[in-house]
Amino acid sequence: MMEIMDKISIKKTTNSRLPSLDFNNIPLGRTFTDHMFICDYDNGQWHSPRIVSLYDIPTHPAAMALHYGQAIFEGMKATVDPEGNPMLFRPKKNAERLNFSARRMGMPEFPEELFVEGLKTFVDMERDWIPPMEGSALYLRPFMYADEPFIGMRAATSYKFMIIASPSAPLFSKPINLWAEKKFIRAVEGGTGEAKAAGNYAAAIRPTELAKEKGYDQVLWLDAMEHNYIQEVGTMNIFFKIDGKIITPSLDGAILSGITRMSVIDLLRHKGYEVTERPITLDEIIEAEKNGTLEEAFGTGTAVGIAYIETIGTEDGVIKVSEDHTLGLDVNDSLNAIKMGKMEDPFGWMVQIPR
Ligand SMILES: Cc1ncc(COP(=O)(O)O)c(C=O)c1O
Repeated sequence: MMEIMDKISIKKTTNSRLPSLDFNNIPLGRTFTDHMFICDYDNGQWHSPRIVSLYDIPTHPAAMALHYGQAIFEGMKATVDPEGNPMLFRPKKNAERLNFSARRMGMPEFPEELFVEGLKTFVDMERDWIPPMEGSALYLRPFMYADEPFIGMRAATSYKFMIIASPSAPLFSKPINLWAEKKFIRAVEGGTGEAKAAGNYAAAIRPTELAKEKGYDQVLWLDAMEHNYIQEVGTMNIFFKIDGKIITPSLDGAILSGITRMSVIDLLRHKGYEVTERPITLDEIIEAEKNGTLEEAFGTGTAVGIAYIETIGTEDGVIKVSEDHTLGLDVNDSLNAIKMGKMEDPFGWMVQIPR
């Protein structure tokens, strides 16, 4: 293992695009840093980890990911502390989840130590691309796909693991409105919902567009059998506060286990709240609105952190959740403060990247 890590080769660009970056005007998801991390898999092993200039990679038209969908990814962020030192938020959790996804999709696991070391080396090189403003970050996208050119249904024998990075301006969470989807489903137990597989997002695109046409921001996904148990939201997990109690859907074999979700559970418990993971139905939320006990709801995910939920549209009318986001705001402030090194990190979540 150490052997492969010792060999991360680095070739720095001689023509950085950094001077053209305006931290106050970063087009979301369209700006990429100078370099990328790349590692190849064939003959049963990962080899040649390297950091090179970002370039378009040639793809064979029969590359299996394009046809059979063996493609998985992760999403995480690097932030800077008040002294300007980069930090990663729980990178080992992303390494573990990538490998969970890899196992489900019949792909090779990527060495977790190399995942974290590769990220650290890469972020160290791109440190000047990390926007320092609170709420902003360098978004990191580790991913793996099958690049073997082959027509036929089986696991590919060659893959690429890569990391690219995109600076993101402060994302101020505005309250969002959800559409509780009863026709389309995102995932079912035994399927691929628990994995961060590209195909899950492909399946979500059309229903999300339809929800947006109705005036909603995101889809609230329900279970495949009864269309009543709440699963998650777009690219977020979901929390409710009902009658003073905080609840979030228990991981049901179809929900993606969010790293923000697990962190928010720990953070809330640390703050003295009781948090329960259990099945939650849409009917229960409708009932709680009717009897006045529905106090708050928010989504949790790497991209926006905490998203305050204002309404949930259903086929039978709109649930007015709340305009009060006290709990969500409190969680958001604490998470941001930990990520910016402005608050003590009692959980040891932040991984420093010294110069
Ligand atoms: C489907 C889905 N659910 C939940 C999440 C939240 O996960 P995390 O908190 O790890 O970003 C994401 C984002 O990765 C997602 O894509």
